[in-house]
Amino acid sequence: MATEGSGERPEQNGVTGEAESEQPAATEELELTEPVEQDAPNETVEEPGPTLYQILTEMKYPPLGAALEAFIEAGLPEFKEVLVAHPLQNPENGHCSVGEAFWLYWLVKSLEPKVVIESGSLEGYSLWFLRQAAPQGSRVLAFDPHNEPAIPLDGIDFYPFDWMETNLNALPGRETLVFFDDHFNQRVRVEQCVWRRIRHTAFHDNYTRPDQGHLPLRYAGLADLVRCQFIFPDLRCDPVFTDYETNRQAYRWLTYCEINVGVLG
Ligand SMILES: C[S@@+](CC[C@H](N)C(=O)[O-])C[C@H]1O[C@@H](n2cnc3c(N)ncnc32)[C@H](O)[C@@H]1O
Repeated sequence: MATEGSGERPEQNGVTGEAESEQPAATEELELTEPVEQDAPNETVEEPGPTLYQILTEMKYPPLGAALEAFIEAGLPEFKEVLVAHPLQNPENGHCSVGEAFWLYWLVKSLEPKVVIESGSLEGYSLWFLRQAAPQGSRVLAFDPHNEPAIPLDGIDFYPFDWMETNLNALPGRETLVFFDDHFNQRVRVEQCVWRRIRHTAFHDNYTRPDQGHLPLRYAGLADLVRCQFIFPDLRCDPVFTDYETNRQAYRWLTYCEINVGVLG
């Protein structure tokens, strides 16, 4: 396995796949066979409120339901603490907006996936929120062939290549969330998730303009590759979301997609 932030390709059979070997990258395998830590038994569990997933699947949208507004209000104080502690207080252009970071944070908090993957990390702005939200004992993997994150990589395995250059056979697909922000064809990414039997995905830049990336995802829906899609609303209910002095990025149609993992039978 690549060490945290090492930038190396993951090892297979104790050999690092990069320098000596001319093997096609697709034969390499991430060491995901390690057991993912389970919740300790007998832990006191607080009475849960509605999860984001329940809200997404049960609410009618638009308009925003009261449940969603209450959910945002309940989540904001915790999110603001994470935002204030972000190591990139003046990130480069190209990162997601603060509102989208909020949704990503709460998507991970609500789904509690065992593995969180980001494809397209740039400096690590969104990756920080994914990492902070990821449950204890989960794995966080990040892929970017062109940029290395500038945040501390504690608890993150970073790989400087496309996620399809790895063999993720041991992935607990139904308990994995992949966030795609890599400007790659979104329809193809959906097909890759179907193939890998990954259930939860989020896509950034799912533009509604016909000349941008929205249509490929729509086609994925039409082809029965996705079970449900939900475009997160642009948040303006708190100054933290509209402070464009420190956060220049605008909202760009963050979309949750539940992949139809049964489509391959
Ligand atoms: C919009 S930026 C990501 C922003 C980041 N998610 C954030 O919010 O801070 C897009 C990134 O995708 C990366 N990228 C391009 N092709 C990629 C690929 N095949 N796999 C993963 N990342 C890729 C680019 O290098 C770039 O850093």
